[in-house]
Amino acid sequence: MGIDLWRDRNAAEVNVSDSEAAVSLNSIDEAESWLELRKLVTACTKCALHQNRKQTVFGVGDTSADWMVIGEAPGAEEDRKGEPFVGRAGKLLNAMLLAIGLQRDQVFIANILKCRPPENRDPRAEEVDSCQSYLDRQIDLIQPRIILAVGKIAAQNLLKVDTPIGRMRGQVYEYPGSNIPVVVTYHPAYLLRSPKEKRKSWQDLQMAVQIYKER
Ligand code: URA
Repeated sequence: MGIDLWRDRNAAEVNVSDSEAAVSLNSIDEAESWLELRKLVTACTKCALHQNRKQTVFGVGDTSADWMVIGEAPGAEEDRKGEPFVGRAGKLLNAMLLAIGLQRDQVFIANILKCRPPENRDPRAEEVDSCQSYLDRQIDLIQPRIILAVGKIAAQNLLKVDTPIGRMRGQVYEYPGSNIPVVVTYHPAYLLRSPKEKRKSWQDLQMAVQIYKER
């Protein structure tokens, strides 16, 4: 398998049901189950993005996965379907995962933000801050053996740096406060616009596999 296989593949469609819950930092930290956490996210009004969302995009996949993939934020299609990476970029992400032997449902996929920013603009600092504890709790519950950060926004916000993504590639980081390795690669939406960069992304994925095997 290799970069040739990074072609269209259908993403599974999963709908997220609505439910009510009060949100406080304590309740997020103490959410012991996925159901509790999902309820908190679904009812979240911590930042202004809740005003225009169709629904929250919690994350999808195996809740005890070894691999966690973290992207930026839902786009229009994700907002409509309630699932991350279901558009064209998502299909490419599925193919990238498949190229290293992973089915989409074998990993857990989440984003820095659970709600769609208008016009797909970059997340604002206050939005990232509001959403951070949800992602932290997801990582805490999953305890992945490796995190793949796709794209500049995911990498910079996960690792709390402002290094350009081109300089972050090729190195292993740790998720702050843990020893979970983080590997950075290009966002599939960028790869759709710049297919020549797929080769570098393939190198990143191979490096991630190596690190995963060594840990
Ligand atoms: N891009 C992302 O970063 N996340 C999604 O869920 C979809 C597109």
